[in-house]
Amino acid sequence: MALRISLLCLTTVLLLTAGRASAAPPVGIPEQGRPIFEARCASCHGPQGRGDGPQAPFLSPRPASLISAGTSVKTDAELLAVITNGKPRTSMPAWNGLLTEQERRDVLAYIRTLVRFHPHSPTPPPNGHH
Ligand code: HEC
Repeated sequence: MALRISLLCLTTVLLLTAGRASAAPPVGIPEQGRPIFEARCASCHGPQGRGDGPQAPFLSPRPASLISAGTSVKTDAELLAVITNGKPRTSMPAWNGLLTEQERRDVLAYIRTLVRFHPHSPTPPPNGHH
C-alpha cells in the first residue's frame, strides 16, 4: 500500500517536471527580479523605478519613470524587447547575454509590481455629463 502511494507521488512529480520543461516562455517572478533590479537597474531608473537613480542627472536623455503611464501601457513583449536589445540613442543597455530570458522576465515582473504598489490617485468626481 505504502509503495503504491509513493509510486503515485513519484509519477506526479515526474509529470509536473515534464510540464515545466515544455517550450512555454518562462513566467516572471517579481521576488527574483527585485535583487536584479536593485543591482543592475536602480542606478539609473531609481530604487522605485521613478527615473531618479544616482546616475540619472548625468544621462541624456534621462531614464524615464518606469511607473509612468507611458511605460505601463506597453506590453510585456515591447518592454522585454527594450530590456533585451537596449534602446537606441539612449544609455539603456542591451541585457541580452548579461541576463537570461528568465531574469529579464523576472525584472519586468518586478517593475510591474512597483506600479501596483504605487497608490492610485483618487477617482475624479463625476462631471455630470452622461
Ligand atoms: C545606464 C543607465 C541605465 C541602466 C543601467 C538601465 N537603464 Fe533602462 N533605460 C535607460 C534610459 C536612458 C532609457 C530610455 C528612456 C526611457 O525610456 O526611460 C531606458 C529605458 C528603459 C525601458 C523602456 C521604458 C519605455 O517606456 O519604453 C525599460 C523597460 C528599461 N529601461 C528597463 C531597464 C531594466 C530592467 C534595467 C536593468 C536590467 C535597466 N533598464 C537598466 C537607462 C538605463
